[in-house]
Amino acid sequence: MTLHSDVRMAVVVVGASRGIGRAIAKVAATQGTPVVLVGRSPEALAAAATDVRQQGGDAFALELDLVVGDATARLQDFLTTNGLACDVLVNSAGYGLRGAATTLPLDDQLGIIDLNIRALSDLTLHFLPGMVARGRGGVLNLASVASFTPGPNMAVYYASKSFVRSFSEALHQELRGTGVTITCVAPGPVATEFLERSGANRAPLFKILPKLSSEYVAKRAWNGFKSRRRLVVPGASAKLAMLAAALIPHAIMLPLISRLQRRSSDPCPCGSGKQYRKCCGAR
Ligand SMILES: NC(=O)c1ccc[n+]([C@@H]2O[C@H](COP(=O)([O-])OP(=O)(O)OC[C@H]3O[C@@H](n4cnc5c(N)ncnc54)[C@H](OP(=O)(O)O)[C@@H]3O)[C@@H](O)[C@H]2O)c1
Repeated sequence: MTLHSDVRMAVVVVGASRGIGRAIAKVAATQGTPVVLVGRSPEALAAAATDVRQQGGDAFALELDLVVGDATARLQDFLTTNGLACDVLVNSAGYGLRGAATTLPLDDQLGIIDLNIRALSDLTLHFLPGMVARGRGGVLNLASVASFTPGPNMAVYYASKSFVRSFSEALHQELRGTGVTITCVAPGPVATEFLERSGANRAPLFKILPKLSSEYVAKRAWNGFKSRRRLVVPGASAKLAMLAAALIPHAIMLPLISRLQRRSSDPCPCGSGKQYRKCCGAR
């Protein structure tokens, strides 16, 4: 595919205003390609754009809610207006919720599917044909170690990350030989606002597990993508968790995760409105 000579290849990072996405944008900026930063919070986006410029990169910020309306079309319009094409897409926008599925708000749980699965798939499938036609670039998708097992008390989040890993690994294989790379990153806990926002940091599991820095994960993710890796599992504890999920039967693993992701003061899943420890947990 011949591109108009004044179209510039860009790295597009969705979920670039905070956390891992912001750190990946900073690493990508050192390559000298323009970086498009997408998120909802204008102040946080502006700060991320400053990071990118300090690395010598050209930053473009787009305030966009990925689950509202025609977000992908709006992103495409923004790129076209600025004379850019998406060479690399980084899907880092995502959220999770801890708690029993029967006690968490339905809309918030469906929102996880809308963002972590639907928006990620829409963006990936929208930009892939252009990448394939150019024979370069690719997609870096943020899954999680949660992708390796079902996750009682974070059920929708774990399932969404299984989707991301399955989808990404399948596309990696499909696109072999095209010059386009799909890399899936599956970190364990990372010290970002995600842990507070999801409520995960209040569960015993996340108190035990060490937390990686977003900078470390970003470097591993970007280097893995550049080396055309299918899967990047940053850090020893995430590799151990992946191994445990492969070796330990669900009959043992699921009660263990359920226990480690529940606080005894959480609302009981039976719907009594009582604390778990004073209801089904006391039986
Ligand atoms: N932190 C961890 O422990 C961990 C571990 C494994 C995997 N992950 C995965 O890594 C990815 C990044 O997580 P993080 O830790 O960096 O989370 P974070 O610090 O909470 O950042 C999430 C990013 O997603 C953006 N975002 C959220 N909803 C959006 C929406 N509707 N439209 C547009 N942007 C939206 C946020 O931007 P605004 O706030 O500006 O909207 C923010 O930039 C997620 O997919 C997460 O599941 C995280």
